[in-house]
Amino acid sequence: MKVGLESLGVAVPPAYIELALLAEARGVAPGKYVEGLGVTRMAVPPLDEDTVTLAVRAGRMALEAAGCSPDDVGMLVVGTETAVDHSKPVASFVQGLLGISTRCRVFETKHACYGGTAALLLAADWVRAGSAKGKRALVICSDIARYGLNTPGEPTQGAGAVALLVSDQPKLLALDADTGVYAKDVMDFWRPLYSKDAVVDGHYSVTCYLDALEGAYRAYQESAGDADGKPYSDRFAALVYHVPYGKMSRKAHRHLRTLDGDAEPDESFDRLVGASLTLPRQVGNLYTGSMYLALASLLTTSTEPLANRRIGLFSYGSGSCAELYSGVVAPEAQARVKALNLEALLERRRALTVAEYEETMRAREGIDERPADESPGEGVRYLGTRDHRRLYAR
Ligand code: HMG
Repeated sequence: MKVGLESLGVAVPPAYIELALLAEARGVAPGKYVEGLGVTRMAVPPLDEDTVTLAVRAGRMALEAAGCSPDDVGMLVVGTETAVDHSKPVASFVQGLLGISTRCRVFETKHACYGGTAALLLAADWVRAGSAKGKRALVICSDIARYGLNTPGEPTQGAGAVALLVSDQPKLLALDADTGVYAKDVMDFWRPLYSKDAVVDGHYSVTCYLDALEGAYRAYQESAGDADGKPYSDRFAALVYHVPYGKMSRKAHRHLRTLDGDAEPDESFDRLVGASLTLPRQVGNLYTGSMYLALASLLTTSTEPLANRRIGLFSYGSGSCAELYSGVVAPEAQARVKALNLEALLERRRALTVAEYEETMRAREGIDERPADESPGEGVRYLGTRDHRRLYAR
């Protein structure tokens, strides 16, 4: 049985800041953020946006793209590290707002940026095992990445959600059974219970990411067996890496090709990785959704025909757990993802001034306790709280 992605959906906040502007405000050469980190624009969520609203919009797009009704979903999982409650899962809010039936397994997964991948691969096994009985799993990766103003991590923030509909009709990507996993207890990035902002040992986190890539790649090779020739990664028509910022994908690819024995590890970068960065470069880090936005970017912007070709995906979550897995692109996948007009979705956003961005960042600190503002507006929105309950407008 083939199992994999039937459709996907993407949601991003309606506003962004140009990183060149932020660099100027921080007294840093714009080249450091734009070329040095490989990010041009960073998503900034307004006060009525949270992990739930992003997840709902992405989930709705994935269902509509597949022509599925909410009743077709038998498992709903939200992978997130920026949940809105210590007990009630984001997935339950999403279930209510999307109108998903009561006959559905609903829960949340967490392992930093790997949480969505954990959910996806479990969902694929659920379908493979025959437990789905014709239903789909809706896996949504949704996060707001936040380090705070004037921190080294500031230019690597972002926000967004990517929803993945998983079934035995993989019209986008049929997942291979082979995967390579690597987990190690490290303190590279975390967010204490008392803090809205992540804490990070930035340069060490890069080392941890690359160590995990190496471990997962070796494990994948043991699982998938020998390639016909060297370099091993030439078995892939494209490689999609977790993208906390664009430059990290370049570092990852350089490391992987060096492991392959490639003396010119950067030469294959544009061919194998370039197209996956077009959308992430304009949004920043989505945490759980980052690698899946890179996958959407590859499918929508690559000029290479990818039909029936194998691609590799590397998911990294700080703390840490990582997995390298692969899949075969379905014949109509590129046309289907292009039809979502994701580039236009990014173009419709509003540019913020640095002052507006800073004001929004400060105001977001109190949004979990904000009294609900129920004045009319459009679309799914977070309104605030009443009696300690979060309220949403559909
Ligand atoms: P930093 O110390 O401010 O920056 O922090 P830097 O000095 O390392 O410079 C960055 C790059 O810009 C360097 O390039 C410079 O050479 C270059 P590199 O040597 O790395 O190739 N540069 C310039 N380029 C052009 N023109 C210039 C210029 N000046 C300098 N004028 C750091 C950077 C990424 C560490 C920081 O932003 C940070 O801590 N970010 C957050 C942590 C992070 O994203 N880590 C990534 C790996 S861990 C991960 O991916 C997991 C994560 O997503 C969380 C999760 O799992 O949930 C984060």
